[in-house]
Amino acid sequence: MDNIMVISGAGDMLMDIGIWDAIVRFQSLAYILAALLFILALAGLSKQKTAQRGNVLGMIGMALALVATIVVAVAQSEQVALGTIAIILGTIAIGACIGVWKALRVKMTGMPELVAMLHSFVGAAAVLVGFNSFLMDPGFPSYDNAFHMGEVGLAVFIGAVTFTGSIVAYLKLSAKMSGKPLTLPGRNLINLALVVACVALIAWFVNTVGIEEGLVPLSILTAVSLVLGAHLVLAIGGGDMPVVVSMLNSYSGWAAAMAGFTLGNDLLIITGALVGSSGAYLSYIMCQGMNRSFASVILGGFGGGTPAAAGGGSEEMGEYTEATPQEVAERLKAAKRVVIAPGYGMAVAQAQYPVADLTRKLIDRGVDVKFAIHPVAGRMPGHMNVLLAEAKVPYDNVFEMDEVNDDFGDVDVVLVVGANDTVNPAAETEPSSPIAGMPVMHVWEAGTVVVSKRSMGNAGYAGVQNPLFFNENTDMLLGDAKDSVEAIIAAL
Ligand code: TAP
Repeated sequence: MDNIMVISGAGDMLMDIGIWDAIVRFQSLAYILAALLFILALAGLSKQKTAQRGNVLGMIGMALALVATIVVAVAQSEQVALGTIAIILGTIAIGACIGVWKALRVKMTGMPELVAMLHSFVGAAAVLVGFNSFLMDPGFPSYDNAFHMGEVGLAVFIGAVTFTGSIVAYLKLSAKMSGKPLTLPGRNLINLALVVACVALIAWFVNTVGIEEGLVPLSILTAVSLVLGAHLVLAIGGGDMPVVVSMLNSYSGWAAAMAGFTLGNDLLIITGALVGSSGAYLSYIMCQGMNRSFASVILGGFGGGTPAAAGGGSEEMGEYTEATPQEVAERLKAAKRVVIAPGYGMAVAQAQYPVADLTRKLIDRGVDVKFAIHPVAGRMPGHMNVLLAEAKVPYDNVFEMDEVNDDFGDVDVVLVVGANDTVNPAAETEPSSPIAGMPVMHVWEAGTVVVSKRSMGNAGYAGVQNPLFFNENTDMLLGDAKDSVEAIIAAL
């Protein structure tokens, strides 16, 4: 009888091992698939045409990852209480509802601040995972554990910096606090001292034994990292926030990757690394588009003042000529090739709808119409692409700066809608200009340039005057861009 029981027990165990093996295999497969879907999602997001598909692939990958993680977590837990599953699913449902509600309400202009707020959650999660992982598996003298403690220290450090940095970015972007940079004397030295302190605290933490001993350096590390994150972003001007948000995006990725190490979750490591590296690359592209070094964004106080504070836009450059919407309509009618160069002003005026309407009307008349998009036109990456997609401008008519910059000589009319710095020839001709070296669109090479802006008194983001406005082949169309473009349509 005993023998039979033993055999039947072994059979159960074998079955258990079989099920567990299947679960582990399912998890590995699901994680590989999810990682592939995330990579395909990023590839899809690189082009407007495929961006929606990219988003859907990312969502499928995330759903798969969640299911696999929950299944394994439930299978692993010693007592699978239905209550635990209910708590996990309930929490996901609440989070999903808040996420959908927020995403439905957010305006396109509020997107950077929403993203900044979401990054703060990733930072907070990394800190909590780090603490939890330490409390479950506190220090004892072994090399393996020293590695684990190092991961926890790094996760808490990066997570805490991301958390407060993102909160400050959110407050600045949503104008809940001043966008002016906080320029404390020796602020770079303060940052350096805080980073050195964090490294020393991680080293101390790694060498502790037990919860009581380890909790002291870990708590101090958290506090110092929180201060560092806040101070880093407080010192940056509001105008540079898009670059900072992209940089925090990168930090949040590395924080997630660190959390993946502490949890032993491969997918989290892969996903975190994808977010971390793509965020870093995006920040690099933005800095290149603005011809500013990454260090100057992080360390400088640029981008905090009004244009006037940055040098004003009213230097005398000679005479300018003004055109009426009727005159502009005549020029457009007579043109064979037209390029529209949109900028921040189009977003301010919400002129993308009449601009799209004008484009359709011109195309119907047989005019070849292209959009030329500067990499940092507007105030966030892809700002113009998103607005044009919103207004249903055909993707095939939208071109990156590099694709059209050599062809402006063959264009009859360029319509500049609320762009300034991105079409400023001073970037190429005046070495002392704050935007010297910034790649700009050669719109001045076209037959005629029409610039829509509200007045001659205001400069662009960099606060410098634009000689383009005073060229012989440039006509100023003064007034709100939406009204001006609607008036052109009416005249057409
Ligand atoms: P800006 O240089 O900012 O110029 C905006 C122009 O729009 C101004 O000439 C302004 O003149 C006009 N404008 C504003 N409201 C308007 C309205 N309602 N109707 C018509 N015109 C209006 O624009 P840009 O060429 O797009 O350049 C972007 C700048 O932002 C660059 O310097 C870039 O480095 C910087 N930046 C970009 C990013 C990203 S990621 N895109 C991030 C940080 C900084 P009026 O006021 O006279 O109308």
